[in-house]
Amino acid sequence: MSDFKHESDNSKDYKPVILITGCSSGIGLALAKLLIEKGDYRLILTAREGSLKRIREGGVSESDSVRIWPLDLNSMQSIDSFFSKLHLDWNVIDILVNNAGISYRGVVEHMDPDSELHQMQVNYLGPMALIRKTLPSMRRRGRGKIINISSVSGMLAMPTMSSYSASKYAVEGASEALWYEVKPLGINVCLVQPGFVNSNSFKNVYFSESSHPKGRGTFYKDYYDSMEPFVAKVMGLTTTTPEKVAKKVYWAIQKQNPPLRIPASPDAVFFYYLRRLLPRRLLHHVLFWMLPGSVRWAKQYTNKRPQAFIRRILRSVGIG
Ligand SMILES: NC(=O)c1ccc[n+]([C@@H]2O[C@H](COP(=O)([O-])OP(=O)(O)OC[C@H]3O[C@@H](n4cnc5c(N)ncnc54)[C@H](OP(=O)(O)O)[C@@H]3O)[C@@H](O)[C@H]2O)c1
Repeated sequence: MSDFKHESDNSKDYKPVILITGCSSGIGLALAKLLIEKGDYRLILTAREGSLKRIREGGVSESDSVRIWPLDLNSMQSIDSFFSKLHLDWNVIDILVNNAGISYRGVVEHMDPDSELHQMQVNYLGPMALIRKTLPSMRRRGRGKIINISSVSGMLAMPTMSSYSASKYAVEGASEALWYEVKPLGINVCLVQPGFVNSNSFKNVYFSESSHPKGRGTFYKDYYDSMEPFVAKVMGLTTTTPEKVAKKVYWAIQKQNPPLRIPASPDAVFFYYLRRLLPRRLLHHVLFWMLPGSVRWAKQYTNKRPQAFIRRILRSVGIG
């Protein structure tokens, strides 16, 4: 039985209610299965309407303590009707796990306002709306837990993933502020930060019109051509599975006072320390040279500056 459960309710039969978003695959589905196996909680497992069948196909079915409900983070109407339904049923959320997320692939120049908004809506604005809807009752009861699934991309950005990184940095910043705001009210806030996870989610990436393989032109070709196979390869090689990340989330659910940030994979730990130990000026140069193919990227342009620099030196010593 979890610390949280003992702490949060006087009735020994009380099962805390956990809402998890994005349960149709990956980490959300793995977490749902793990929590069902534990049996200590009432679960509301959500996904977009069209994806609900994938939760069931994933081996999860409804029961007295499991609800499978639609919730689209890209639609305020869907969020409102979710909460109307909740009020007619269990009427409470003890633990909110903001897991659902999407990832756009595109260099900054190829993104557009609609794509940026879609990315922010699902990864940041939607989760924030859920937090705002959930907080009043947590506040009244003087307890609750909000777990946001962030990413290494919320501590370090990668080329071609600007918008995704921005959404995760936004989640990190807001969660940090929230931690201060609700800690005195008995509510925990936690960021779980996976690095690369061995899953299919790199196949589910979104593209803006200009970043789509068919419409991106040639200028940033080297960047995409290097980053795409690199990400796919690392995701295929890593030993971090959705199940392992789900265990980290479960640890945060059980822990009475979990830390604000929980790196959830060995690479997340590595990048956490790299970022802390290397001076920032050095950090980004080191990471640039570590990126696959970066030496080649836009070589014909970036070469101009070193050449001009060398010419200046030669002129200053009277040569050339
Ligand atoms: N996989 C990784 O390498 C990795 C690394 C670091 C962080 N993360 C983070 O971990 C979380 C889970 O990722 P994952 O790898 O498990 O991804 P995933 O397998 O692609 O699952 C993402 C989930 O989000 C749902 N979703 C997408 N759009 C939605 C919307 N508008 N409203 C509600 N739900 C929506 C998806 O449902 P549909 O079936 O309807 O699309 C799916 O259930 C994300 O926040 C992600 O950013 C993942």
